[in-house]
Amino acid sequence: MNDWPEGFAQFPHDPRMAAWAGAARGLAEAALAAPGAAWRHGGTWFAGVNALPNGPDGGLPGHPLDGAVIRHLAVGGQAPRCWDRAQISAVAPGYPGRDPGESEAQHRFRRDRAGAHVDGLLPVGPARRRMLKEAHGFVLGLPLTEVTEGRSPMLAWAGSHRIIGEALTAALAGAPPERWPEIDLTEPYHAARREALATCRPVPMLGRPGEAYVIHRHTLHGIAPWADAPEGPPRIIAYFRPEIPFSAWA
Ligand SMILES: [Fe+2]
Repeated sequence: MNDWPEGFAQFPHDPRMAAWAGAARGLAEAALAAPGAAWRHGGTWFAGVNALPNGPDGGLPGHPLDGAVIRHLAVGGQAPRCWDRAQISAVAPGYPGRDPGESEAQHRFRRDRAGAHVDGLLPVGPARRRMLKEAHGFVLGLPLTEVTEGRSPMLAWAGSHRIIGEALTAALAGAPPERWPEIDLTEPYHAARREALATCRPVPMLGRPGEAYVIHRHTLHGIAPWADAPEGPPRIIAYFRPEIPFSAWA
């Protein structure tokens, strides 16, 4: 993954991946329509973490998780031995709406900065101090519907993984990895995020089912606001975010 100077890689259409995505789409649409499905941000975002019932090999009945991106990860020693259930990320027309409990600043950051973040740095406590509570090896995005520029693609800030990685590796240095989840990273994280937003270019991760992208675990990313017609079906992407040991994160 260090051979990706921008901090992400995009993979062209692969029929093996398209077959998997077709099967996943049916299951995802059922999850979205299920009673009690939790839509947030004014009903415009469904963050179905671990909502896809894939097997530990990533496969769905009759459809193995396969394609150039999976083989690339395997050759690089990055494919996990056991795949988690994938996240089903759905975004509906009008994203981002605003929930009653959401502050104006939080809503603005989601609207104007795509809610740019690095996975695993979760807000802790009422003061929302950022701590490394989850260590993900990478984020693999698999479009289940066509994702165009106006349909809330993921934005990945090109080269941001270097800025974020350097800042957080420095902040964690000196402490053993088992203590990393307790270290307050708020200041270095916010400073590095500011620098990345100011100096890096957001690149939309577009694609149709069968295409794929992977972003480095330190790459700043978010969800672009919906810009297409304010009606119609949501766009749906499946994400795999395999966990790795904390010691391998920085
Ligand atoms: Fe994310």
